[in-house]
Amino acid sequence: MVLRLVEVTKTLGTQQVLEGVNLEVAPKERLCVVGRSGAGKSVLLRLILGLIKPDSGEIWYGETNLVPLRDRELAPLRREMGMVFQNGALFDFMNVEDNVAFALRERRRPESEIREKVSRILERLFLKGHEKKMPAELSGGMRKRVALARAIISRPKLIFYDEPTAGLDPIGSTEITDLIRCLNEEFGATTIVVTHDMRSVEQIAQQVAFLHAGRIYHAGCAEEFLSSEDPVVKAFVHGLIEEPTVGAG
Ligand SMILES: Nc1ncnc2c1ncn2[C@@H]1O[C@H](COP(=O)(O)OP(=O)(O)OP(=O)(O)O)[C@@H](O)[C@H]1O
Ligand SMILES: [Mg+2]
Repeated sequence: MVLRLVEVTKTLGTQQVLEGVNLEVAPKERLCVVGRSGAGKSVLLRLILGLIKPDSGEIWYGETNLVPLRDRELAPLRREMGMVFQNGALFDFMNVEDNVAFALRERRRPESEIREKVSRILERLFLKGHEKKMPAELSGGMRKRVALARAIISRPKLIFYDEPTAGLDPIGSTEITDLIRCLNEEFGATTIVVTHDMRSVEQIAQQVAFLHAGRIYHAGCAEEFLSSEDPVVKAFVHGLIEEPTVGAG
């Protein structure tokens, strides 16, 4: 397994957001983590990236439990991970090209290599001709593609996308899900996509983990999830209002 979470718990403020999350992700797999708004999906990503620490539990990246590591020990492992944040999180004061080059400049790669890689990735993500634009001059879909380019340019082994299709029309959304799938197949990076969009799940997921009431309520292949007869899963997949369950956030 590339990633293995064991009984991970996290309380934020007065709310126990995660009550014991167990999750396994195999190499090169595309996993969608789904759940209602507020279920704790973004918190889960922040925990895996080491941006926050769990209250208890283990987070194994390969053979290493990340939980006890200090920032200095985490840093080289984090460099193997790429993250596309929910809001894109581009640097507003840098143009497209400089945003995408950021990770490579940080690693002090030679400028000729940076220019070549940036140009290649921008072409691949249909951003050629937009190199000099500032983030404020981009459409929502373009911003998402720049965020993707920025995350994959350093060839991460593990890549996370938080709601990559939120706010896009169906065509823009399919463009992004196609790219996520193709990039996964081309580069073989293990891919974890957080979403509550069932179309994205259909288009991307090999495996699905459904976060509900602080735990992974259901984990399995995409077909199994989408056609599940379990009332809680079914209500989520088809957008039905379910009866409140005891203990659910
Ligand atoms: N820094 C924080 N302090 C206090 N509570 C927080 C903090 N961050 C998140 N939470 C709470 O944790 C819960 C889960 O938040 P999270 O952002 O993970 O939800 P989500 O599943 O990503 O939702 P969405 O689909 O809307 O993005 C929410 O109830 C939120 O209010
Ligand atoms: Mg979120």
